[in-house]
Amino acid sequence: MQTYRVAIVGTGGIAAVHASNLARTDDRAELVAACDVDDARLQAFADQHEIVGRYQTLTELLAESKPDIVHLCTPPMMHIDQAIECLEAGAHVLSEKPPALSLADFDRLNDAKAKGGAQFSCVFQHRFGDASAAAQSLIGGSDFGRPLVARCDTLWYRPDEYFDLPWRGTWKAEGGGPTMGHGIHQFDLLLHLLGPWEEVNAIASRQARATSTEDFSAALVRFENGAAATVINSLLSPRETSDIRIDCEFATIELSHLYGYSTKDWTITAAPGHEDTVSSAWSGQPLERGSGHSAQFLAMYDALDAGLPLPAGADSARQTLEFAAAIYASAFTGQPVRRGDIVPGHAFYEGMDGEGRGTRVLASTARA
Ligand SMILES: NC(=O)c1ccc[n+]([C@@H]2O[C@H](COP(=O)([O-])OP(=O)(O)OC[C@H]3O[C@@H](n4cnc5c(N)ncnc54)[C@H](O)[C@@H]3O)[C@@H](O)[C@H]2O)c1
Repeated sequence: MQTYRVAIVGTGGIAAVHASNLARTDDRAELVAACDVDDARLQAFADQHEIVGRYQTLTELLAESKPDIVHLCTPPMMHIDQAIECLEAGAHVLSEKPPALSLADFDRLNDAKAKGGAQFSCVFQHRFGDASAAAQSLIGGSDFGRPLVARCDTLWYRPDEYFDLPWRGTWKAEGGGPTMGHGIHQFDLLLHLLGPWEEVNAIASRQARATSTEDFSAALVRFENGAAATVINSLLSPRETSDIRIDCEFATIELSHLYGYSTKDWTITAAPGHEDTVSSAWSGQPLERGSGHSAQFLAMYDALDAGLPLPAGADSARQTLEFAAAIYASAFTGQPVRRGDIVPGHAFYEGMDGEGRGTRVLASTARA
């Protein structure tokens, strides 16, 4: 097993989570460099995590410290340009979510001349707990049966002060509200469990927060395998919870947590007459590791060691981004949106605001 040389770009809030999770990867990674435009923040972060390489630009960091992997922990509007720069310098990229502000922005990755097989991956840490892998392998199989009905709720609470950071709650810098910035984790897991979605009907509104985006969205989703789901994304919910429920023919799978789960956050309920098969199918799975950044880092190192494509790589990250774009497109046009509809020339390809449609719809319906 190789020890990977890792650099963190952007040393704000989430960077601390990356650094502490890197420390839990059993020496499979060494944090060799960090970069921030804010020198005081950079120095404090580097002192705390004993990082030698300290840079104010990504270009210098790439040239001098030559990391194997760069973690992008910068605000959302920077991710794609920085990802392309890393790939072209031959460094793998692990970008915080959202991977880009729009599908057009994301598709610029195709133009990157990635050196030495460098690959892109997006942080979607909820995919990486053992229970998620167990659920994915059992859904649609003979013990649990076909998935029929599902629910995916991200009911979080963010007060007005949360939006004081200049990039938060804006189309230009964050690309949207709770759909792009918060619920994206939970519906990424739903898509990971249920496979390709087919059609979305959605609403979005600004109910209470003084942002320029939505603070609530809700979608009805039809999946290719026939399952039907609701997806709700809210920043207005004082009792916070992140829930997924999938009713299959012979078992209900439920996950209830907030920002990360352990196996005990999952509940399996068998349909009458299926208790034994459902229980032994679930307990026969490896169910030790919870979700979290370190679980994704380790899966990334396993893939690199084996010469395999990175998990949560560009294709699957794009599918999740396309789903977010479909929620906005449906909500702001009042029309259903099918997978594959949002292509160059479509109003929501260039941005989640749909060339200003989102702004106009939200302004005319805002209660904030
Ligand atoms: N996966 C998760 O659970 C999770 C949780 C929180 C945030 N995030 C994501 O992480 C990202 C960062 O969020 P945050 O809350 O840490 O933001 P933050 O504002 O606290 O930190 C961002 C840092 O990037 C620095 N920065 C800005 N421009 C830079 C540049 N050109 N080069 C280097 N550094 C630069 C800023 O000075 C700041 O220190 C966002 O995309 C956010 O959505 C993910």
